[in-house]
Amino acid sequence: MDKQQAQEKIDAIKELLHQYGHEYYVLDKPSVPDSEYDQKLRELQELEDAYPELVTADSPTQRVGAEPLEAFQKVQHNIPMLSLGNAFNADELRDFARRATEGTDKPVSYVCELKIDGLAISLLYEDGKFVRGATRGDGTTGEDITSNLRTIRSIPLTIKDKDTIEVRGEAFMPHKSFLALNQKRDENGDEPFANPRNAAAGSLRQLDPKIAAKRNLDTFLYGVGEWETGTIQSHSERLSYLKELGFKTNPEWRKCQTIEEVIDYVEYWTTERPNLNYEIDGIVVKVDDLDQQEELGYTAKSPRWAIAYKFPAEEVITTLTDIELSVGRTGVVTPTAILDAVKVAGTTVKRASLHNEDLIRAKDIRIGDTVVIKKAGDIIPEVVRVVEEKRTDKEEEFHMPTTCPACGSDLVRLEEEVALRCINPNCPAQLKEGLIHFVSRNAMNIDGLGEKVIIQLFQEKLIQTIADIYRLNREDLLKLERMGEKSVDNLLQAIEVSKGNSIERLLFGLGIRFVGAKAAKTLAQQFETIDNLQQASYDELIAVDEIGEKMADSIAHYFSEQEVTDLLQELRELGVNMEYTGVKRSSQSEETIFSEKTVVLTGKMEHYTRQEAKEKIENMGGSVTGSVSKKTDIVIAGEDAGSKFEKAQKLGVTIWDEQQLREALND
Ligand code: IVH
Repeated sequence: MDKQQAQEKIDAIKELLHQYGHEYYVLDKPSVPDSEYDQKLRELQELEDAYPELVTADSPTQRVGAEPLEAFQKVQHNIPMLSLGNAFNADELRDFARRATEGTDKPVSYVCELKIDGLAISLLYEDGKFVRGATRGDGTTGEDITSNLRTIRSIPLTIKDKDTIEVRGEAFMPHKSFLALNQKRDENGDEPFANPRNAAAGSLRQLDPKIAAKRNLDTFLYGVGEWETGTIQSHSERLSYLKELGFKTNPEWRKCQTIEEVIDYVEYWTTERPNLNYEIDGIVVKVDDLDQQEELGYTAKSPRWAIAYKFPAEEVITTLTDIELSVGRTGVVTPTAILDAVKVAGTTVKRASLHNEDLIRAKDIRIGDTVVIKKAGDIIPEVVRVVEEKRTDKEEEFHMPTTCPACGSDLVRLEEEVALRCINPNCPAQLKEGLIHFVSRNAMNIDGLGEKVIIQLFQEKLIQTIADIYRLNREDLLKLERMGEKSVDNLLQAIEVSKGNSIERLLFGLGIRFVGAKAAKTLAQQFETIDNLQQASYDELIAVDEIGEKMADSIAHYFSEQEVTDLLQELRELGVNMEYTGVKRSSQSEETIFSEKTVVLTGKMEHYTRQEAKEKIENMGGSVTGSVSKKTDIVIAGEDAGSKFEKAQKLGVTIWDEQQLREALND
């Protein structure tokens, strides 16, 4: 056989294997026995061994080929991978339907899908080839897990659509694979996975794809991210198209004309759920028409055109053996129930917050009680109620102390608050929690300074205030347990880097009452330096959009304290940046060419990435969306603009080229 003939043979076998694989892994309908598939695969392998130059990445022999990675690369999601708002009962679904109906002119129909309990993935295809797979991460930045995803047999390595298309969906571990995996882990003395979702996530987070390959993961795809096409009009068509392309889509989806039909679907799956061979945690309801989806748009976190109905949380019974107290960053003393360990919704629960004394009284919770536990939103453990029939009269009533368990000073109950607070500013428990908050991710984001290290540093009296963090030196740090030279160097480096943070991080990190990360950003953009903010009057503060009376009061009060002025001075002298270094806010009154305009970007641009152009337009008050509709004001078409361009022409939407964009941006 010469090379030409080998190539032809290879192509023919690949096509056959592609078909067999699709029938087996995607459609669950094999047309040939496994032995036949294996035989063909061996034949292909032999040909590829003889002609290594004919091996391509999309060959079925190459699913597990990749070498272990050092670390995962970051992946930027140009269209964020959002999460969904929740509904917990039929009335909340009806509310969703009402909002959707009121938000558009035409009648609304819905698509219902099972909410697969796995982890969200994004699959990028270029020129028909699978080129990159990523996790959702925080929605904007995920991790590149291509080599692990390639091992999942239901993910096609090639598709017939040659457009660049990003397909989204869920990777999960079917029950059968999960049970087999945990049995094996048990036999090997490894800790079993708590639930299929953790097992799937753990498998995809392995740096060596050989491990993921053994875990028998599966996928259901249900969405599209970036895609240069406008022919598809509805979510139901999109699901059909994904299936046609060879992706595994969940067959149980249904189109519903009314919300009552949706509720029937929800009820059906509430009882049928145990008969599925994979885990679901709810039902996702989506407005079917894509133009209507766009019209409804998004809130800050989630689309208005979709909602997740969550099944009621599993409830279990255990004993409450004690109530412990902790003092938080703001001095609030919180009681926590200590429980006999019990499994709820897949993980072991040993503690549950009781929030405050009023709640303990309202539920009449006593030490020694038998209690019902559930996980609120399937995450946070909660004591639902006491099982009174199990009372033995030996249970003890609990009373909150009158003094702080950490520093002994008197506790106070502030007006209109149920919480008890320690108001001693030097209370060690508050100082410690304040330090933990200061270094946390949304605040100064000092990597390597986790809770455990802070506690050690605090106990060793190496840090008492946040300024002390910037006084730490090598010798001090090397004394700590489990801190080698390398970790000390990394930590010092992270502390150094944090000095340059823009001031919203510092503002949030200071822990001013009522000032969350978002308000901190607004304040930073508005006042630009810590000095300006400190000098701002109550009236100037309240004049800022999004800053209410309570917050303005709290900020003005905070900055009037002498200790605060001293602390800021110390931080300044230690080299901590006191200025806003982010994107400037264009002032509300300033009209720009993009004010209130909806813009769609399409095609490649020479001077900007999509993300850059988007940010610039948004900074000038415009909003950038993904697809063209009647509501679009401007379409900016770069090189090779495809169907969005055509759609804009059809709808008579204003079209600009890159030069016009540059002029509008004054670039
Ligand atoms: S749609 C913009 N459909 O649930 C909305 N999500 O909170 C995109 N999920 O992160 C999500 N099954 O991981 C959608 N049929 C389904 C789903 C589904 C599971 C997950 C997904 C997402 C989360 C939403």
